[in-house]
Amino acid sequence: MRPSLALALLATTFQTLTSPASAAFDCKKAQIAGFEYDLSPLAHDIFLVTNTSTPPSTSSVKYAINPCMPLQPMPDSVPKLDRCPENSWVCRSVTYVKDSVPRLEEVGSVAGVSKSDQPTLQATAEGSEKPREFHWKMDGVQVDQAKWSTDIKFVCNRSAKNDDLPKLVAYKDGLLELEWAVPAACALGDDGKDDGGKDKSPGDGGKDGNSDEGDDEGGSGFFATVFTLLVSVFILYLVLGVMYNYLVVRAHGLDLIPNRAFWREFPYLCADFAQHIWDTVSGRRRGGYSVV
Ligand SMILES: *[C@@H]1O[C@H](CO)[C@@H](O)[C@H](O)[C@H]1NC(C)=O
Ligand SMILES: *[C@@H]1O[C@H](CO)[C@@H](O)[C@H](O)[C@H]1NC(C)=O
Repeated sequence: MRPSLALALLATTFQTLTSPASAAFDCKKAQIAGFEYDLSPLAHDIFLVTNTSTPPSTSSVKYAINPCMPLQPMPDSVPKLDRCPENSWVCRSVTYVKDSVPRLEEVGSVAGVSKSDQPTLQATAEGSEKPREFHWKMDGVQVDQAKWSTDIKFVCNRSAKNDDLPKLVAYKDGLLELEWAVPAACALGDDGKDDGGKDKSPGDGGKDGNSDEGDDEGGSGFFATVFTLLVSVFILYLVLGVMYNYLVVRAHGLDLIPNRAFWREFPYLCADFAQHIWDTVSGRRRGGYSVV
Protein backbone atom coordinates (compact mmCIF):
# COMPACT_ATOMS: atom_id res chain seq x y z
CA MET A 1 0.00 0.00 0.00
CA ARG A 2 1.35 3.42 -0.91
CA PRO A 3 1.76 5.87 1.97
CA SER A 4 -0.53 8.43 0.31
CA LEU A 5 -3.31 5.86 0.09
CA ALA A 6 -2.72 4.86 3.71
CA LEU A 7 -2.87 8.49 4.75
CA ALA A 8 -6.12 9.04 2.88
CA LEU A 9 -7.63 5.97 4.55
CA LEU A 10 -6.40 7.16 7.91
CA ALA A 11 -7.95 10.58 7.37
CA THR A 12 -11.31 9.04 6.41
CA THR A 13 -11.26 6.77 9.43
CA PHE A 14 -10.45 9.63 11.71
CA GLN A 15 -13.22 11.75 10.23
CA THR A 16 -15.75 8.98 10.84
CA LEU A 17 -14.58 8.62 14.42
CA THR A 18 -14.56 12.28 15.32
CA SER A 19 -17.37 13.72 13.19
CA PRO A 20 -19.01 16.62 15.04
CA ALA A 21 -22.14 15.82 17.03
CA SER A 22 -24.49 18.20 15.25
CA ALA A 23 -23.58 21.29 13.33
CA ALA A 24 -26.85 22.91 12.29
CA PHE A 25 -30.33 22.03 13.51
CA ASP A 26 -31.68 19.50 11.03
CA CYS A 27 -35.46 19.48 10.95
CA LYS A 28 -35.48 16.54 8.59
CA LYS A 29 -33.62 14.34 11.08
CA ALA A 30 -34.64 15.65 14.46
CA GLN A 31 -33.62 13.30 17.28
CA ILE A 32 -35.82 12.85 20.32
CA ALA A 33 -35.02 10.16 22.92
CA GLY A 34 -33.24 8.16 20.24
CA PHE A 35 -36.05 8.33 17.71
CA GLU A 36 -36.07 10.25 14.50
CA TYR A 37 -38.63 12.87 13.46
CA ASP A 38 -39.06 14.69 10.20
CA LEU A 39 -40.28 18.20 11.00
CA SER A 40 -39.35 19.57 7.59
CA PRO A 41 -43.01 19.84 6.41
CA LEU A 42 -43.25 22.65 8.97
CA ALA A 43 -40.18 24.48 7.69
CA HIS A 44 -41.80 27.76 6.69
CA ASP A 45 -42.98 30.93 8.38
CA ILE A 46 -46.49 30.82 9.75
CA PHE A 47 -48.44 33.58 11.45
CA LEU A 48 -50.83 33.61 14.36
CA VAL A 49 -52.88 36.74 14.90
CA THR A 50 -55.24 37.46 17.77
CA ASN A 51 -57.21 40.69 18.03
CA THR A 52 -58.56 41.92 21.30
CA SER A 53 -60.63 44.91 22.01
CA THR A 54 -58.75 47.25 24.32
CA PRO A 55 -60.84 50.46 24.27
CA PRO A 56 -60.31 52.96 22.89
CA SER A 57 -58.18 50.87 20.53
CA THR A 58 -57.95 47.33 19.25
CA SER A 59 -54.80 45.45 19.94
CA SER A 60 -53.49 42.88 17.57
CA VAL A 61 -50.86 40.42 18.72
CA LYS A 62 -49.01 38.67 15.96
CA TYR A 63 -46.63 35.73 16.21
CA ALA A 64 -44.42 34.74 13.33
CA ILE A 65 -43.16 31.19 13.85
CA ASN A 66 -40.74 28.87 12.11
CA PRO A 67 -39.75 25.73 14.05
CA CYS A 68 -36.93 24.83 11.66
CA MET A 69 -34.93 27.96 10.93
CA PRO A 70 -34.79 31.70 11.54
CA LEU A 71 -37.69 33.70 10.07
CA GLN A 72 -37.45 35.27 6.64
CA PRO A 73 -36.21 38.85 6.88
CA MET A 74 -39.04 41.37 6.67
CA PRO A 75 -39.35 43.45 3.49
CA ASP A 76 -37.52 46.75 3.32
CA SER A 77 -40.87 48.54 3.29
CA VAL A 78 -41.13 47.82 7.01
CA PRO A 79 -39.16 50.36 9.06
CA LYS A 80 -36.05 48.80 10.50
CA LEU A 81 -37.10 49.33 14.11
CA ASP A 82 -40.40 47.59 13.48
CA ARG A 83 -38.89 44.43 12.03
CA CYS A 84 -38.42 41.20 13.84
CA PRO A 85 -34.79 40.94 14.95
CA GLU A 86 -32.38 38.95 12.86
CA ASN A 87 -31.98 35.29 13.88
CA SER A 88 -35.41 35.12 15.49
CA TRP A 89 -37.33 31.89 14.98
CA VAL A 90 -40.40 33.12 16.81
CA CYS A 91 -41.25 36.82 16.83
CA ARG A 92 -43.93 38.61 18.78
CA SER A 93 -45.32 41.97 17.78
CA VAL A 94 -48.15 44.00 19.22
CA THR A 95 -50.00 46.61 17.21
CA TYR A 96 -52.65 48.96 18.52
CA VAL A 97 -55.23 50.22 16.09
CA LYS A 98 -57.01 53.44 17.03
CA ASP A 99 -59.32 55.23 14.62
CA SER A 100 -58.04 52.78 11.98
CA VAL A 101 -54.50 54.01 12.48
CA PRO A 102 -52.18 51.12 13.38
CA ARG A 103 -49.27 51.73 15.70
CA LEU A 104 -46.66 49.11 16.43
CA GLU A 105 -46.03 49.04 20.15
CA GLU A 106 -43.71 46.11 20.73
CA VAL A 107 -41.65 43.75 18.68
CA GLY A 108 -39.15 41.20 19.92
CA SER A 109 -37.79 37.72 19.52
CA VAL A 110 -39.42 35.07 21.72
CA ALA A 111 -37.01 32.47 20.34
CA GLY A 112 -33.58 32.90 18.81
CA VAL A 113 -31.13 35.75 19.33
CA SER A 114 -27.77 34.81 17.92
CA LYS A 115 -26.92 32.88 14.78
CA SER A 116 -25.85 29.77 16.69
CA ASP A 117 -29.06 29.47 18.71
CA GLN A 118 -30.89 26.18 18.32
CA PRO A 119 -34.08 24.80 19.79
CA THR A 120 -33.92 21.90 22.22
CA LEU A 121 -36.26 18.96 21.72
CA GLN A 122 -37.37 16.89 24.67
CA ALA A 123 -39.96 14.19 25.12
CA THR A 124 -42.75 15.08 27.53
CA ALA A 125 -42.65 11.73 29.30
CA GLU A 126 -39.62 9.64 30.12
CA GLY A 127 -39.68 6.10 28.81
CA SER A 128 -38.62 3.74 26.12
CA GLU A 129 -41.67 4.23 23.90
CA LYS A 130 -41.65 6.46 20.88
CA PRO A 131 -42.62 9.84 22.29
CA ARG A 132 -45.99 11.02 20.95
CA GLU A 133 -45.52 14.40 22.56
CA PHE A 134 -42.46 16.52 22.86
CA HIS A 135 -41.44 20.06 23.65
CA TRP A 136 -39.61 22.43 21.37
CA LYS A 137 -37.90 25.07 23.48
CA MET A 138 -35.82 28.08 22.70
CA ASP A 139 -34.88 31.28 24.47
CA GLY A 140 -35.40 34.73 23.06
CA VAL A 141 -34.38 38.20 24.12
CA GLN A 142 -33.91 39.48 27.63
CA VAL A 143 -36.46 42.24 28.26
CA ASP A 144 -36.00 44.09 31.53
CA GLN A 145 -35.67 41.30 34.09
CA ALA A 146 -37.55 38.70 32.07
CA LYS A 147 -36.14 36.27 29.59
CA TRP A 148 -38.52 35.72 26.72
CA SER A 149 -38.82 32.15 25.56
CA THR A 150 -40.99 29.78 23.57
CA ASP A 151 -42.26 26.33 24.46
CA ILE A 152 -44.09 24.51 21.68
CA LYS A 153 -45.75 21.26 22.69
CA PHE A 154 -45.83 19.04 19.63
CA VAL A 155 -48.43 16.29 19.61
CA CYS A 156 -48.45 13.41 17.17
CA ASN A 157 -51.80 13.38 15.35
CA ARG A 158 -52.04 11.53 12.07
CA SER A 159 -55.55 12.74 11.32
CA ALA A 160 -54.46 16.37 11.48
CA LYS A 161 -52.69 18.16 8.64
CA ASN A 162 -49.22 19.63 8.67
CA ASP A 163 -50.80 22.90 7.48
CA ASP A 164 -52.84 23.17 10.66
CA LEU A 165 -51.82 26.12 12.77
CA PRO A 166 -50.57 25.79 16.33
CA LYS A 167 -52.90 26.72 19.18
CA LEU A 168 -51.94 29.63 21.36
CA VAL A 169 -52.03 28.26 24.90
CA ALA A 170 -50.66 31.19 26.86
CA TYR A 171 -48.33 34.11 26.87
CA LYS A 172 -47.31 34.94 30.39
CA ASP A 173 -44.22 36.53 31.92
CA GLY A 174 -42.42 36.34 28.61
CA LEU A 175 -43.11 32.64 28.09
CA LEU A 176 -45.04 31.81 24.93
CA GLU A 177 -46.74 28.42 25.04
CA LEU A 178 -48.12 26.82 21.91
CA GLU A 179 -49.60 23.45 21.15
CA TRP A 180 -49.20 21.98 17.71
CA ALA A 181 -50.88 18.72 16.70
CA VAL A 182 -49.50 17.56 13.35
CA PRO A 183 -48.50 14.31 11.62
CA ALA A 184 -44.91 15.63 11.44
CA ALA A 185 -44.76 15.27 15.22
CA CYS A 186 -44.99 11.47 14.89
CA ALA A 187 -41.79 9.44 15.06
CA LEU A 188 -40.55 7.97 11.79
CA GLY A 189 -40.80 4.24 11.19
CA ASP A 190 -44.00 4.26 13.23
CA ASP A 191 -46.16 2.45 10.69
CA GLY A 192 -47.40 -0.68 12.42
CA LYS A 193 -44.03 -1.82 13.75
CA ASP A 194 -44.14 -0.04 17.04
CA ASP A 195 -42.31 -2.77 18.93
CA GLY A 196 -39.03 -1.59 17.46
CA GLY A 197 -38.77 0.56 20.57
CA LYS A 198 -40.10 -1.95 23.10
CA ASP A 199 -36.89 -3.83 23.83
CA LYS A 200 -34.92 -0.67 24.34
CA SER A 201 -33.89 -0.23 27.94
CA PRO A 202 -35.00 3.13 29.33
CA GLY A 203 -31.43 4.15 30.06
CA ASP A 204 -30.76 3.81 26.37
CA GLY A 205 -32.71 6.94 25.62
CA GLY A 206 -30.09 9.59 26.14
CA LYS A 207 -27.14 8.17 24.30
CA ASP A 208 -28.45 8.68 20.79
CA GLY A 209 -28.66 12.41 21.12
CA ASN A 210 -25.58 13.15 19.09
CA SER A 211 -25.18 10.31 16.64
CA ASP A 212 -27.11 11.02 13.50
CA GLU A 213 -26.78 7.73 11.70
CA GLY A 214 -27.80 4.15 12.29
CA ASP A 215 -30.58 5.09 14.65
CA ASP A 216 -33.51 4.47 12.33
CA GLU A 217 -34.38 1.27 14.13
CA GLY A 218 -34.27 2.45 17.71
CA GLY A 219 -32.80 -0.49 19.64
CA SER A 220 -30.31 -1.65 17.04
CA GLY A 221 -28.75 1.81 16.94
CA PHE A 222 -26.52 1.20 19.94
CA PHE A 223 -25.08 -2.03 18.56
CA ALA A 224 -24.61 -0.46 15.16
CA THR A 225 -22.61 2.33 16.80
CA VAL A 226 -20.46 -0.09 18.81
CA PHE A 227 -19.88 -2.26 15.75
CA THR A 228 -18.90 0.75 13.63
CA LEU A 229 -16.54 1.87 16.37
CA LEU A 230 -14.87 -1.56 16.60
CA VAL A 231 -14.48 -1.83 12.84
CA SER A 232 -13.07 1.71 12.70
CA VAL A 233 -10.56 0.97 15.44
CA PHE A 234 -9.51 -2.22 13.65
CA ILE A 235 -9.04 -0.38 10.36
CA LEU A 236 -7.07 2.31 12.15
CA TYR A 237 -4.85 -0.38 13.68
CA LEU A 238 -4.30 -2.01 10.29
CA VAL A 239 -3.54 1.27 8.54
CA LEU A 240 -1.15 2.48 11.24
CA GLY A 241 0.53 -0.94 11.37
CA VAL A 242 1.02 -1.08 7.63
CA MET A 243 2.34 2.48 7.58
CA TYR A 244 4.76 1.70 10.39
CA ASN A 245 5.99 -1.47 8.70
CA TYR A 246 6.37 0.30 5.38
CA LEU A 247 7.97 3.50 6.54
CA VAL A 248 9.98 2.44 9.59
CA VAL A 249 10.65 -1.27 9.23
CA ARG A 250 10.73 -0.94 5.42
CA ALA A 251 8.94 -4.24 5.00
CA HIS A 252 7.32 -5.43 1.79
CA GLY A 253 4.59 -7.78 0.66
CA LEU A 254 2.90 -9.87 3.33
CA ASP A 255 5.36 -8.58 5.94
CA LEU A 256 3.46 -5.31 5.83
CA ILE A 257 0.65 -6.85 7.89
CA PRO A 258 1.09 -5.65 11.47
CA ASN A 259 1.79 -8.37 14.07
CA ARG A 260 1.86 -10.89 11.29
CA ALA A 261 3.04 -13.76 13.46
CA PHE A 262 0.12 -13.23 15.79
CA TRP A 263 -2.45 -13.07 12.99
CA ARG A 264 -0.96 -16.22 11.45
CA GLU A 265 -1.60 -18.02 14.76
CA PHE A 266 -4.96 -16.35 15.23
CA PRO A 267 -7.13 -18.92 13.39
CA TYR A 268 -5.52 -21.75 15.42
CA LEU A 269 -5.98 -19.82 18.64
CA CYS A 270 -9.66 -19.36 17.77
CA ALA A 271 -10.01 -23.03 16.92
CA ASP A 272 -8.32 -24.04 20.21
CA PHE A 273 -10.52 -21.70 22.15
CA ALA A 274 -13.68 -22.99 20.46
CA GLN A 275 -12.58 -26.57 21.08
CA HIS A 276 -11.96 -25.80 24.74
CA ILE A 277 -15.41 -24.20 25.12
CA TRP A 278 -17.02 -27.14 23.31
CA ASP A 279 -15.25 -29.67 25.53
CA THR A 280 -16.30 -27.83 28.67
CA VAL A 281 -19.91 -27.48 27.59
CA SER A 282 -20.32 -31.01 26.28
CA GLY A 283 -18.73 -32.34 29.47
CA ARG A 284 -16.15 -34.40 27.65
CA ARG A 285 -13.42 -32.95 29.83
CA ARG A 286 -15.12 -33.88 33.05
CA GLY A 287 -13.27 -37.18 33.15
CA GLY A 288 -9.97 -35.35 33.55
CA TYR A 289 -10.95 -32.76 36.13
CA SER A 290 -13.98 -33.91 38.05
CA VAL A 291 -12.22 -35.94 40.74
CA VAL A 292 -10.84 -33.09 42.82
C1 LIG B 1 -56.94 41.79 13.37
O1 LIG B 1 -56.74 43.16 13.22
C2 LIG B 1 -56.00 43.52 12.05
C3 LIG B 1 -55.74 45.01 12.09
O2 LIG B 1 -56.89 45.71 12.40
C4 LIG B 1 -56.80 43.09 10.82
O3 LIG B 1 -56.07 43.42 9.64
C5 LIG B 1 -57.02 41.59 10.88
O4 LIG B 1 -57.81 41.17 9.81
C6 LIG B 1 -57.66 41.18 12.19
N1 LIG B 1 -57.64 39.74 12.28
C7 LIG B 1 -58.59 39.02 12.82
C8 LIG B 1 -58.37 37.54 12.87
O5 LIG B 1 -59.59 39.52 13.28
C1 LIG C 1 -56.40 14.90 15.67
O1 LIG C 1 -56.75 15.86 14.70
C2 LIG C 1 -58.07 15.75 14.24
C3 LIG C 1 -58.25 16.72 13.08
O2 LIG C 1 -57.73 17.98 13.40
C4 LIG C 1 -59.03 16.03 15.40
O3 LIG C 1 -60.37 15.92 14.97
C5 LIG C 1 -58.76 15.02 16.51
O4 LIG C 1 -59.54 15.30 17.64
C6 LIG C 1 -57.30 15.03 16.89
N1 LIG C 1 -57.04 13.89 17.78
C7 LIG C 1 -56.52 14.04 18.97
C8 LIG C 1 -56.27 12.80 19.75
O5 LIG C 1 -56.25 15.14 19.43
